[in-house]
Amino acid sequence: MTPPDTADATPFRVPSSLTFASAAAPIALEAGALIHDYFKKGVATEYKADVDLVTEADRASEKLIAERMHAVFPAHGIYGEEGTRQRLNSEYRWYIDPLDGTTNFAHGFPVFCVSMGLEHRPAGLAENQDGTLIAAVLYDPTRDELFTAERGKGAYLNGRPIHVSQTANLCESLIATGFPSRKRHANPNVYFYQEFTLRSHGVRRAGSAAIDLAYVACGRFDAYWEFNLNPWDTTAGMLLVLEAGGTVTRFDGSPFRIDSREVLATNARIRDEMIRLFDNMFAGRDLEPLLTPQEFAAQRAARS
Ligand code: IPD
Ligand code: CA
Ligand code: CA
Repeated sequence: MTPPDTADATPFRVPSSLTFASAAAPIALEAGALIHDYFKKGVATEYKADVDLVTEADRASEKLIAERMHAVFPAHGIYGEEGTRQRLNSEYRWYIDPLDGTTNFAHGFPVFCVSMGLEHRPAGLAENQDGTLIAAVLYDPTRDELFTAERGKGAYLNGRPIHVSQTANLCESLIATGFPSRKRHANPNVYFYQEFTLRSHGVRRAGSAAIDLAYVACGRFDAYWEFNLNPWDTTAGMLLVLEAGGTVTRFDGSPFRIDSREVLATNARIRDEMIRLFDNMFAGRDLEPLLTPQEFAAQRAARS
């Protein structure tokens, strides 16, 4: 594997005011190059559960990140999707998704990334209490896009400041969602997909929650929602959205917690409209009528 020229590239791609992100970005770039190499070669897929996939690339990326993190931030904790649990009583904790978008990756669909979010956990905080998200590093190797943010210091894409979109209405918005890979029958998201599709410019389902959040931060999407994500999927993207001027809540507008099972990220302008729609949908109000396949088939037969 040829690692990217991180020594040269990083200073221009992360503002020097972002101290944690500047130190962590070379690790994300190296892990991104590693998974990109696996992507080009092709890699066998295994099942973790139901349709939840994992590959050698996920594990190799997490191993590399954990080793590099330990060298750069020896006192920091790591909570990784593929099982790394290190120094979790530390004042700083990184949530690591070593490869977000594994299903895409396994099928050769080039939308995946490395995601790393840093939480500050002052002494005395109970395990079930959230600390403060203070840094985010997210790297998409297929587009060579490095997203970074730190609390109070803004969000950046390849070193340039990013901002959420200015779109003021849902009907003019492009939004995104994802569907869980576990307990699929127990999830109602397809109904929300339908309603938001009928009321917006469209809903994309690209298969990487972390990239979806980063795209809200840089204005490519106006909003994004999903059920049942984990802290490694959301922490980096959440800070990117907040630092880019957006909002991150649960579907009812209540505060998002690191382990929340609902995430709604918006450009702030369409937040209230989306929350109203969620509220109406959960109450069964104002649902758009939709032709069933059977009704459609009957109409088609009548026309022929
Ligand atoms: C998945 C992706 C996907 C989302 C799933 C996640 P993984 O993460 O973020 O977009 O819909 O819920 O589990 O398994 O590829 O790291
Ligand atoms: Ca993930
Ligand atoms: Ca993953």
